[in-house]
Amino acid sequence: MGLGVAVGHILVENLHKWFVERRSASRIADENPGPAKGDRVFVLNDINLEIPDGELVCILGPSGCGKTTFVRIVAGFDTPTAGKVLTDGKPVNGPSSDNIFVFQHSGLLPWMTVRENVMLGLRRMKDRKLMAEKVQEYIDIVDLVGFEDHYPHQLSGGMQRRAELARALVVNPEILFMDEPFAGLDFLTRIKMREEVINMHEFIQKTIIFITHDIDEAMIMADRVVVFSDRPAVIKMDVKIPARHPRDFSCDPELEGLRRQVYTELGVHYAL
Ligand SMILES: Nc1ncnc2c1ncn2[C@@H]1O[C@H](COP(=O)(O)OP(=O)(O)OP(=O)(O)O)[C@@H](O)[C@H]1O
Ligand SMILES: [Mg+2]
Repeated sequence: MGLGVAVGHILVENLHKWFVERRSASRIADENPGPAKGDRVFVLNDINLEIPDGELVCILGPSGCGKTTFVRIVAGFDTPTAGKVLTDGKPVNGPSSDNIFVFQHSGLLPWMTVRENVMLGLRRMKDRKLMAEKVQEYIDIVDLVGFEDHYPHQLSGGMQRRAELARALVVNPEILFMDEPFAGLDFLTRIKMREEVINMHEFIQKTIIFITHDIDEAMIMADRVVVFSDRPAVIKMDVKIPARHPRDFSCDPELEGLRRQVYTELGVHYAL
């Protein structure tokens, strides 16, 4: 970390990404009008974004516009075609254990208990007692006390997500990348998980980039909402959400106005 540069700070400058299609061209163009072999698929078009330390940013955008591609690049799992990404003032050269990625689907190891899964993040820690304490602390934060010795298949979907969150947080990452982490959860569990991420964020104040398709979820959770356009994605909207938690659209005209603006940006003009 450079002097004066906050931990968990992200700077994205003139980021472009395209993929070169590797698929075999053995297809009849009219029947399958996708990109042919050698075609370029333009995904990100000059993305510029600065995220200060500790901000919870929700990214919204149409399916296939490049949200996952974007966070994968910022997290170091992929490289940009042009432009640069700096975290804490340093260029990103691959994934870092200071940054944790929570994927859309559960990444818990099925043959390990909740405790063992959470412990994975601390496997290099020498002090076993301290390690056990830390693991317990985070199991407590995500409200899984009593389930430490359960295996993932013995947990509900929401509990699995919480265990995954504990495993991500125990590492004390500077940045947490969450790519639709609540996909597939039922409505009530999803609402509960939102609350947990909001509370956890207020408590630990880490930078979080959170991708979701759910506009209201973004408006309820985020310090800032960034809306991507259709592919190739540009940033269509970048707005701070000044409201305090808990948020209620019906009691906050400013929040409700912003929410409607985001819906409109995403092409929804009715059913608000
Ligand atoms: N490794 C790859 N090779 C070629 N094309 C890719 C690759 N990864 C992604 N793409 C293409 O890039 C585009 C953006 O994909 P991406 O997964 O980033 O979208 P997304 O916004 O996350 O979509 P969703 O909301 O459905 O998750 C898509 O057209 C996809 O086909
Ligand atoms: Mg995606």
